[in-house]
Amino acid sequence: MLQNHYAMAAAKAGGPDVLLRTELVLATPGPGEVQIEHRAIGVNFIDCYFRSGLYPWPDPQLLIPGAEASGVIAATGPGVTGLKEGDRVAYTLPNNAYASARNIASAHVVKLPDGISFEVAASVMLKGLTARYLLKDSYVLHPGQKVLFHAAAGGVGLIAGQWMTALRVEPVGTAGGPDKCRIAKAHGYADVIDYRAEDFLEAARRLEPTGYHVVYDSVGKDTLLKSLKCLRLHGALVNFGQSSGAVSDFRVSDLAAGSFHLTRPVLFHFTSDRSWLVRAAEELFGLILEGRIDVQTRRASLTDAAQVHADLEGRKTTGSTVLIP
Ligand SMILES: NC(=O)c1ccc[n+]([C@@H]2O[C@H](COP(=O)([O-])OP(=O)(O)OC[C@H]3O[C@@H](n4cnc5c(N)ncnc54)[C@H](OP(=O)(O)O)[C@@H]3O)[C@@H](O)[C@H]2O)c1
Repeated sequence: MLQNHYAMAAAKAGGPDVLLRTELVLATPGPGEVQIEHRAIGVNFIDCYFRSGLYPWPDPQLLIPGAEASGVIAATGPGVTGLKEGDRVAYTLPNNAYASARNIASAHVVKLPDGISFEVAASVMLKGLTARYLLKDSYVLHPGQKVLFHAAAGGVGLIAGQWMTALRVEPVGTAGGPDKCRIAKAHGYADVIDYRAEDFLEAARRLEPTGYHVVYDSVGKDTLLKSLKCLRLHGALVNFGQSSGAVSDFRVSDLAAGSFHLTRPVLFHFTSDRSWLVRAAEELFGLILEGRIDVQTRRASLTDAAQVHADLEGRKTTGSTVLIP
């Protein structure tokens, strides 16, 4: 049976205003698929990269952005095991989440434990699992190591700060403006540099003259070359995003300044391994239920997606925002 739903979709790449309400007809789920009625949808910078055209669209005619969401299973397709109608679930997968419902391969879906709300789940499936691989897979952090984490008051940044505290690491963060610095400090960062008010390289060196074991840089263009200069010998730079624009002036020989390591990881290369996904989600939900990671979420209507994108790109947000259909 076909069902009527709606999405916030774009027919051409561009600014936030290209996102428009679009009616959606969903078929019954196919083999191995489930249909999820969304209750909350996380907003992430990757949604802006797709919307603006920085990342190519899977379907050049229409983009439904959105890469993490939670909801209730409304129907299951043939061959689905372990999930049934009425189950509370969540997932992360690039695109198609800005919709009141969707069909999705059941291999991407995890069940929500009691005590994890739809809004929290939709805030952490992408951002929290990113924090997990950053701190425990791309680079394996050990207690006491020196860490610099950019955009510390952002969605990934606030979760990562608390997770690092749980790992007995006292990171230094950067954030734009005194309010964001205060919020980051309340979420695990021992020191936070206001990189709009002062040169972060100078401040980071003052705080840690021998340099950092690892720098996590999702800002990209504006920060990456200076981030390399913050490392100690054999240090690692984890570049996992480009909120300020793509990096264009990096040369491999820049790593020779300190025998540095560089990686450019992507969450979906970790979550495509089902056993990693299930283990990492359990770990993340466990830390939330124990009160070691607190997730503050701003709510907006799904139909206000354009304004939410403008706020995120305008550096006006802290932590996570979820869209409610
Ligand atoms: N590779 C992956 O697997 C992966 C997964 C998740 C997220 N990411 C990346 O991680 C980053 C954080 O994602 P998020 O969704 O949690 O976003 P976010 O950190 O909440 O928002 C981005 C932040 O970047 C900072 N920023 C610095 N220069 C900026 C500029 N010119 N324009 C806009 N923002 C600027 C702003 O914080 P300040 O005002 O404090 O500077 C802004 O709030 C993004 O780059 C995203 O693409 C990557």
